[in-house]
Amino acid sequence: MKVFSTVAETRHWCRQQLRETHSIGFAPTMGALHEGHLSLVRQANEQCDRSVVSIFVNPTQFAPHEDLDQYPRPIENDLALLRQAGTDAVFLPSVQEMYLSDSGDESTKVLPSSVALPLEGVHRPDHFVGVATVVMKLLQIVPADRAFFGRKDFQQLCVIEHMARDLSMATEIVPCPIVREEDGLAMSSRNRYLSTEERKRALCLSKALQAVQQAFDAGQRDPSELELVMKDSLKPCDHLDYAVVVDRESLLPVSKITRSVVALIAARIGKTRLIDNCELTLA
Ligand code: PAJ
Repeated sequence: MKVFSTVAETRHWCRQQLRETHSIGFAPTMGALHEGHLSLVRQANEQCDRSVVSIFVNPTQFAPHEDLDQYPRPIENDLALLRQAGTDAVFLPSVQEMYLSDSGDESTKVLPSSVALPLEGVHRPDHFVGVATVVMKLLQIVPADRAFFGRKDFQQLCVIEHMARDLSMATEIVPCPIVREEDGLAMSSRNRYLSTEERKRALCLSKALQAVQQAFDAGQRDPSELELVMKDSLKPCDHLDYAVVVDRESLLPVSKITRSVVALIAARIGKTRLIDNCELTLA
């Protein structure tokens, strides 16, 4: 497994692979890898000749009060997991290498589509500008045929899909299923912040989604009723940012469900902010 820390050597290796007519699958991550991340790597390995993973805790997608400094960086363990998963190359840049400055504040940015405005956009205002910009940069460095993103970060996936479509990007964006712990908790690098007691309470997010799926399957089509079902299960949370049922394409509220929707939750357990979702599909 190649491990690169510079843009130049990563780009050079990728171009060589493409010249040799090998396709490239790419999974961008912020490290602290778990089975969710590794499922993207496996998809990349299955669908492409070469797999590339980036590990970069992107400062521009964190607000000043968020967990940038605290974000886990178990790099040796991450590299061992990637080696085991059969990754061909890892891009592991410094902030300086990516942004040529400490913050990236002054540089060119990608303005995401309006799908970035509700939900996370309300609670983390500059987050998706940071995400879209770094993903655009990463795809300039790793000119992948396919890039793999988890449905766990549903709105992020929408933002990236819109960016790829709107800016005529050459890379195909491939959505991948949410990977969960055995008891249902969606895997997340942030789960390791949870105490034993908080870990138990965190289960209410996936429980709320199971409840909303059940109500939907039983024929409930009123979004506000479905939201009440979720909120009822979310009482163990310390703070609820949102628990909504919205249009799956625009992420905007709907008064009646006439096409597929998605149930999305963001909640705090202790100091840890968790997100989860499930798609409610009309046959
Ligand atoms: P990170 O949170 O490390 O996630 C990297 C990728 O793994 C994302 O596509 C995310 O949706 C996916 N992922 C995380 N947990 C998952 C789970 N339980 N099941 C399936 N997929 C999961 O998302 C980011 O990093 C960053 O915003 C990034 C896109 C790398 C830009 O900095």
